[in-house]
Amino acid sequence: MNAIAKMPKTAKERGKIAPAKLAHVVLRTPPERVKMILDWYKVVLEGEAMYEAEGLGFITYDTEHHRIGVLGFPGIKEHADGYAGMHHVAFTYANLGDLMHTYYRLKEENILPEFTINHGPTTSMYYFDPDKNQVELQVDNIPEENFADYFSNGEFTSNPIGIKFDPDELFGRYKAGEAEKDLLQRPDGTPPDLTEFPAN
Ligand SMILES: [Fe+2]
Repeated sequence: MNAIAKMPKTAKERGKIAPAKLAHVVLRTPPERVKMILDWYKVVLEGEAMYEAEGLGFITYDTEHHRIGVLGFPGIKEHADGYAGMHHVAFTYANLGDLMHTYYRLKEENILPEFTINHGPTTSMYYFDPDKNQVELQVDNIPEENFADYFSNGEFTSNPIGIKFDPDELFGRYKAGEAEKDLLQRPDGTPPDLTEFPAN
């Protein structure tokens, strides 16, 4: 049976009171690792500390007071793969150029994606922070006003997982001046098995 996808009306359009925005994510870690985790998010997100003290900190990259918080809890247990809970947090860039710039900038810092895939709706690069929280950096492949059309055109239902891509190859094509709309087009191919996705 094929799934039906459509763009729901916003809660506001349905006359409901819903949150005005998604505000922040807060992570916990052993106190001695707080600075390392904060530093990683500063680098990855081009963030700065709104507040930083021994054992906790808050980072922002825009007008929000914090987008990522890190709290040190004494005695906290190490990350273990395979537990129920949050899988990843995603950040969307304005365009492929910004994502490619960020990919290259992070590569220069030896921060590399674990997995890169064109899902169809997005071009996505998945990273692990030093505690193995998964962070997706992505760009929308289609303009927001075309989401509903896209989800009905059959591409997504034929493969809701995506097609993996080589980030250096995509970066090379981008640097060579290929049009973003062509680079964002999902290639034909076989979707990866879910076991190929990085585990956390
Ligand atoms: Fe995602």
